[in-house]
Amino acid sequence: MSEAGATQHRQLKISILRYNPQDPNSEPHMQTFPLEEADGMTLFIALNEIREKQDASLQFDFVCRAGICGSCGMLINGRPGLACRTLTMHLGEEITLAPLPVFELIGDLSVNTGKWMRAMSERLETWIHTNEAVDLRKMEERMEPQLAEEIYELDRCIECGCCVAACGTARMREDFVGAVGINKIARFKIDPRDKRTDEDFYELVGDDDGVFGCMSLLGCHDVCPKELPLQTQIAFVRRKMVRMGMK
Ligand code: SF4
Ligand code: F3S
Ligand code: FES
Repeated sequence: MSEAGATQHRQLKISILRYNPQDPNSEPHMQTFPLEEADGMTLFIALNEIREKQDASLQFDFVCRAGICGSCGMLINGRPGLACRTLTMHLGEEITLAPLPVFELIGDLSVNTGKWMRAMSERLETWIHTNEAVDLRKMEERMEPQLAEEIYELDRCIECGCCVAACGTARMREDFVGAVGINKIARFKIDPRDKRTDEDFYELVGDDDGVFGCMSLLGCHDVCPKELPLQTQIAFVRRKMVRMGMK
């Protein structure tokens, strides 16, 4: 291609919050990497290029690169989002990246969302509770397609942690279950296979670490990369729990 016809790519400046909590000599600081933008570049591609060509010690997480595994959540210009689904063309030339707050920092942009999600899932017992032993030889009972669809919609959560990182309550209350936890309660509440009663659910989220800690800030709803109806689900669970609390 002639020089005149060549595409002019932007020169990006990607500033990353660097810190390794395992290293006693490490101090949190911003480090800026220059990078030539490429067509269709995502932050996943940008970070890999920086790691390959400029600094092999840079820590960040990716598995699926397709918005499915939830491991690449980070603060992108201060807003939680998935790096693998973020095109640099939608951002300015100067981009700031930082790890998601609330979660344990592993290093640089890598945080331990798995540990947090596991503790929340154990606390809320996010599995189907039946009253009888499951007989694998028996066919599952038929479920209305519309109900199956409603459950599936809430099951699309990829546990990326963006909603937790965007939540003021989660920053203040260490044990707050977050929108991700409340969404899971909503999911099991509508599942007819789960035999837990309203009282059981009240035990799990009828307090300030549960749905009553939520101050309706709705940052969770705004940033969820799967666009889950978090506002509706929080309102649904809160209504149920208020009714239970009045009994
Ligand atoms: Fe991520 Fe949305 Fe699930 Fe929160 S509810 S963990 S933002 S997918
Ligand atoms: Fe937090 Fe979402 Fe409630 S941001 S305060 S969980 S509405
Ligand atoms: Fe899996 Fe981004 S790498 S969601």
